[in-house]
Amino acid sequence: MVSYELDMDVAVPQLSRDEELYVQIAMVGTLILPLTLKAVLELNILEIIKMGSASASTQLVMMTAEDITAQLPTNNPQAAAMLDRMLALLASFNIASCVIEKKEKVIRRYGPTPFFKLLTKDEDGATVATLSLLGMDQAFVSAGQHLKEVVLEGGIAFEKAHGMKAFEYIGTYPSFRRLFDKAMMDNSTFFLKKMIETYQGFKDVHVLVDVGGGVGAVLGTIISKYTHIKGINLDLSHAIATAPPLPGS
Ligand SMILES: C[S@@+](CC[C@H](N)C(=O)[O-])C[C@H]1O[C@@H](n2cnc3c(N)ncnc32)[C@H](O)[C@@H]1O
Repeated sequence: MVSYELDMDVAVPQLSRDEELYVQIAMVGTLILPLTLKAVLELNILEIIKMGSASASTQLVMMTAEDITAQLPTNNPQAAAMLDRMLALLASFNIASCVIEKKEKVIRRYGPTPFFKLLTKDEDGATVATLSLLGMDQAFVSAGQHLKEVVLEGGIAFEKAHGMKAFEYIGTYPSFRRLFDKAMMDNSTFFLKKMIETYQGFKDVHVLVDVGGGVGAVLGTIISKYTHIKGINLDLSHAIATAPPLPGS
């Protein structure tokens, strides 16, 4: 342990009364934001809002929760009211934009923000949303319940929760494998596409082995630019089973 004189420049943040109140409220609801974002992503709401805006070339189209709910497979009469509250929360974190009309009742309309670029599909169908959904999946949420235990007693939280190693779990549950592979693929494609714009190191490579290459997204991106490379994707059998064949590999 190290003690510092209090007049030294040690960073001990001071909170204003308003900030204290904000932290107090935020601490009660720490899980609410990720769970709301998870539901909104699973319901494809950000894609619906983006499509609404894309349909108008010169105007920003803002949609009410009723407009959006009309495109969901539901007859729940409360759905729009629920969605409105969820989107209002996301708007307060700038994940969606919101305009408020005050008529006989308050009407909120929602539109895109720069976050949509990451959280909705790009021209290749890739989105950071899949990585976000993976992180919020029950498999990891239940592992998180064991953090206190592993700090005090040692071990690995994921294994405490599921009785097996993470990659064994991924191989056991095909729907989780699909989510995992898509999340890896979207994330790697996103960074790889940027990397190979400037990195020249693959020019003289003839054979490239990707160890733990998943469904081959990284190799595929590299080989699509450096077509002379022979690619070898090395991964567990359950990953290779769903990996598409790629020209040059
Ligand atoms: C974090 S993922 C990376 C996926 C891939 N590189 C990508 O960017 O899409 C790690 C990969 O390692 C694989 N893996 C884990 N243990 C392995 C092993 N013993 N031998 C080969 N691959 C393994 C997993 O199946 C998984 O696909």
